[in-house]
Amino acid sequence: MRDQLFDNQIDIADFRFDANVVKVFDDMVRRSVPGYDSMIQMIGLIARMYGQENTNYYDLGSSTGAISLSIALNNMHNNNQFFAIDNSEDMVNQCKKNLNNKVNNLHAICADINDINIQNASIVVLNLTLQFIGVELRSNLIKKIYDGLNPGGVLIISEKIHFENKQIQNQITKLHMDFKRENGYSELEIANKRQAIENVLITETKEEHLKRLRDCGFTDSSCFFQCLNFVSFLSVK
Ligand SMILES: C[S@@+](CC[C@H](N)C(=O)[O-])C[C@H]1O[C@@H](n2cnc3c(N)ncnc32)[C@H](O)[C@@H]1O
Repeated sequence: MRDQLFDNQIDIADFRFDANVVKVFDDMVRRSVPGYDSMIQMIGLIARMYGQENTNYYDLGSSTGAISLSIALNNMHNNNQFFAIDNSEDMVNQCKKNLNNKVNNLHAICADINDINIQNASIVVLNLTLQFIGVELRSNLIKKIYDGLNPGGVLIISEKIHFENKQIQNQITKLHMDFKRENGYSELEIANKRQAIENVLITETKEEHLKRLRDCGFTDSSCFFQCLNFVSFLSVK
């Protein structure tokens, strides 16, 4: 269904991943995040390369299940359990509907990713999710993931970022707005969505992400994808 959530002049409440967003999520994310389909494809290929037999794969902030599906379709290993975790019940229900009969050993669970256990993992993905976690909680979450990964396992993070350099920040922001216009969003929709998401999506710089990953134990991290202000990091334990 086409995303028209922000196309009228209303009082804007903070953005929430509720039933209305679930209905339009797949359209919204593709028209808002440059390179979203490439992220999904590359994460599948990374899972194919780094997945291990008899281990758990975690999709944290799984929304409608695109990452879990990509990982499952690319999986070359045996005896893996797929954990798709989201704290929006509407998202979890949609994920179950989408992946039913497509992913074996799927556990789609409604939970806060700050509260879950990560164990015997070879693949953990935070695709556009860490940005919705309070900045003060991010290190604990990354440390927990590091501890739950087996040697040779990987954490993949995709995030919207900002740039310290004001000129670059302005250039890239303008290009991102052009990307949204090109995809059919009006000025009003862009402004309303920006206002709604301002307090809930907290960006950091690429350097802040890489430093946190180092501080949490990942000595081997790289940026494998960037399109405008969206980047993906691969960290190997
Ligand atoms: C932008 S979406 C992620 C997109 C998805 N990973 C994909 O690639 O299609 C962010 C998701 O994170 C979930 N989320 C936010 N905070 C969370 C938390 N503390 N625990 C679990 N899920 C959370 C939201 O409900 C939402 O579905």
